[in-house]
Amino acid sequence: MKKILLAPSILAANFFKLGEEVKEVLKFGGDIIHFDVMDNHYVPNITFGPLVLESLRKNNITHPIEVHLMVNPITELLIKQFSDAGATTIIIHPETTFYLEKLIQVIKYYGCKIGIALNPSTSFSVVENFLDQIDILLIMSVTPGLGGQKFLPFIFEKIFYIKEILDRKKKNIILEVDGGITLKNIQKLVLLGVDVIVLGTSIFKTKNYKKTLENFKKFLLY
Ligand code: DX5
Ligand code: ZN
Repeated sequence: MKKILLAPSILAANFFKLGEEVKEVLKFGGDIIHFDVMDNHYVPNITFGPLVLESLRKNNITHPIEVHLMVNPITELLIKQFSDAGATTIIIHPETTFYLEKLIQVIKYYGCKIGIALNPSTSFSVVENFLDQIDILLIMSVTPGLGGQKFLPFIFEKIFYIKEILDRKKKNIILEVDGGITLKNIQKLVLLGVDVIVLGTSIFKTKNYKKTLENFKKFLLY
């Protein structure tokens, strides 16, 4: 039985008490903090940057923090800043660069795991040549830029298709899904064999995180 990990996305957290929110979701079973960085350019929204990540690290948050970079341009300086701040993983969107192969190397050079995010409309073929170089494939199940959107149903088939290729090619890549995941659709994702599930609104907009996470965890046992 493999362990499926839950990655609470703090985009939906109450920023007034961000530290407490992060500590709570980790205490009650969150495995990875999903850190959505938006720049009002690649996506029409602004969130937070390396300084906020650093402040989490300075306050004893030791769990993995994956930075989902929805910014353009992605510079080496930005990658260095996130790495210095304590990011464990940096996930980038291939649409933001002509130099994907170079960015992958830069992220590795700074000691982070490398993830590639595929927008709903982005084809798997974009990453096909990089399967030996990446650690994580993040399948977006909503258009990036906003929390609380509805899961796009055609993504189930996309995951099925990608999972089949990865298995057939024996690629050891973590398959992660991000956007619109709820208690109603998580089971399908588990059955499709995904490894990491991002949860924003479905955790942070509920009252009792302990109960919510317990309810999600029930679906992970199969
Ligand atoms: C969307 C972000 C997601 C988002 C998920 O642009 O990348 O990580 O926070 O939030 P929910 O779970 O509310 O869709
Ligand atoms: Zn995200």
